[in-house]
Amino acid sequence: MTKALKHAELTPANVTGLEGVIVANTVLSDVDGVKGALLLRGKPIEALAGHLSFEDAIAHLWQDLVSLPSGDLRRAFGTARVRAFAGVAAMQATPADLTVFERMRVGLSALSLHETQTPDAVAISGAMPVLLAAAQRIKEGLSPIAPDSGLRTAEDLLRMLLGTPAPGHAVEAVDRYLVTILDHGLNASTFAARVIASTQADMRDAVIGAMGALKGPLHGGAPGPVLDMLDAVGRPENAASWVDQELSSGARLMGFGHRVYRTRDPRADVLKAGLRKLPQNNPKLVLAEAVEMAALAALAKAKPDRALDTNVEFYTAVLLDAVGIDRSLFTPLFAVGRTPGWCAHVLEQQATGKLIRPGSRYVGPKPDA
Ligand code: ACO
Repeated sequence: MTKALKHAELTPANVTGLEGVIVANTVLSDVDGVKGALLLRGKPIEALAGHLSFEDAIAHLWQDLVSLPSGDLRRAFGTARVRAFAGVAAMQATPADLTVFERMRVGLSALSLHETQTPDAVAISGAMPVLLAAAQRIKEGLSPIAPDSGLRTAEDLLRMLLGTPAPGHAVEAVDRYLVTILDHGLNASTFAARVIASTQADMRDAVIGAMGALKGPLHGGAPGPVLDMLDAVGRPENAASWVDQELSSGARLMGFGHRVYRTRDPRADVLKAGLRKLPQNNPKLVLAEAVEMAALAALAKAKPDRALDTNVEFYTAVLLDAVGIDRSLFTPLFAVGRTPGWCAHVLEQQATGKLIRPGSRYVGPKPDA
């Protein structure tokens, strides 16, 4: 007779979720959860987002890691976009019901990486905006739009997505967003990328695996549900009662709480500052601020022993919605912005040569006597 599994022994009570465990040394980014600070290669996120283009921020992150034949990342990404567009046919030959994210993974698998001298980090990161825009156009029954290699990533991404040049404020907002989420310590998707890289699988495999880890609502899948929450609340005066009801039903409030931050996620304020630069009178922002205030008060009451504050996803949803990006594209856009970060971690991991392989505690049945 085998003994029945004790599910209580599988619950997080005796599993740490690797909290606080150091798995890698990195020069890329540092998350200070107590102070609420994020550094990328020594620079605070507030000094990068809204100040540097996505390409310049990546060049800052990739210094000494990725060498470019031309030395110019904007030009190299333009070329990578054009090469990636040659492969979007594979994305068109896919079942109609695939999501944008699923179709992007097909496009990434089909991306040719073998015929060029371009570093994989450039080819893959440069391809992602093309894959996103093409996947969305295919989903809408439209033809994918070819990239313009002379534009910067944020500008070309919106143009390929919408079919027309986007207004300057929308480009600036998307650029700010992409820089804000470029890298963030050993989050779940970056860890997934490093685990895959540690087996000496390819960078592409690591990025595809990281996309899978990103998708869940406890990580990069949260901003769409944040917008659903704002829709459900409807009006600022409903915020407190809606939030109370949600918490008493045992649900989690999307866009709040974090594994590392015990205070406000600094990226929330970087994105909120981006909202202030957009044309004003955004009723969604007024609603979001009311929901945030109600949520913080309710969380402090419901979980007095755990500091739960606003995370990056809350204002991601409001900012991207304000520039007309559909909520189904929030997580795909997160993947576009995070891919250069994943690639940088893969390169660091490859340099260590050490397989990541933790252990588990066996709580299953013993052999029959
Ligand atoms: N709403 C309500 N309660 C919460 C929330 C929340 N958003 N977040 C945490 N809690 C509660 C948990 O229920 C738990 O309570 P308990 O001890 O009484 O069971 C306690 O706070 C600790 O939560 P854990 O899940 O153990 O903390 P962990 O570090 O594992 O989780 C996470 C962090 C997953 C981000 C969590 O805060 C959460 O689910 N947030 C909502 C989803 C979200 O916003 N995801 C985006 C995260 S940002 C990013 O990845 C880019």
